[in-house]
Amino acid sequence: MNRTPVLSERLKTIADLVIPGKPMADIGTDHGHLPMWCLENGIVPFAVLSDINEGPLEKAKLRISRSVMSEESYSLRLGSGLSVLKPGEVSTVVIAGMGGELTSRLLAAELGVTDSVERFVFQPRSRAGMLREWLWEHGWRIREERLVRERRRLCQIFSAEKGIQIPYEFSDIPECEHPLMIPFLDRELANIRIVIDNLLRSKEAVDQIKLEALQRKAAVLEQRRDRLWKNSSF
Ligand SMILES: C[S@@+](CC[C@H](N)C(=O)[O-])C[C@H]1O[C@@H](n2cnc3c(N)ncnc32)[C@H](O)[C@@H]1O
Repeated sequence: MNRTPVLSERLKTIADLVIPGKPMADIGTDHGHLPMWCLENGIVPFAVLSDINEGPLEKAKLRISRSVMSEESYSLRLGSGLSVLKPGEVSTVVIAGMGGELTSRLLAAELGVTDSVERFVFQPRSRAGMLREWLWEHGWRIREERLVRERRRLCQIFSAEKGIQIPYEFSDIPECEHPLMIPFLDRELANIRIVIDNLLRSKEAVDQIKLEALQRKAAVLEQRRDRLWKNSSF
């Protein structure tokens, strides 16, 4: 019998946000490491492992069938997004490693299931702001924000539950005091400054509204970064 490989820090952080003691689903599970780890460590009593592609699901099936888990504790499902779930079937749904735009589309496509979920845990690979905006517009609030470094990438991870929340000033920037916020903001500021420089050097008419919005965003993020530096002991 195999045991699940040690989880990466990214997947471990996601596992920390899953509701303990209640069933979960991992949409786009690929290798299945996350739900297998949650089952093996007694975090959840039952897990749905699903993927749109047969290859990854076969991989997950092979691994989980060789593991210590009983067959009643999991279900492998082939299909897109939340279409593989019945309303109310699981408490936590994890969608990690997909783009924020695709994730929003998957939530919108199955509103009956989406609305029955107690907590989502997301790790959007791109367009996190778009996903947060979708959530705020559809009666969800961000419950907790985390950042994790994986190789050269800084991954945004957040959980969401039902509720009303005043949207962040910038939906693409997590509002948290995590130590990795300083490098995260440094990287964002560097990207914004490149865009501002290009606009200022452009020989064509400059979109003043866009330019001023970017300059304001840079000023606000710089203040946030400096405040974090001052308050930090890291
Ligand atoms: C980059 S992998 C992420 C794997 C894992 N969730 C993680 O974070 O390590 C993305 C997975 O999502 C699956 N996927 C892509 N679109 C999907 C959809 N609409 N529904 C379900 N799974 C999907 C892919 O087949 C792939 O296995």
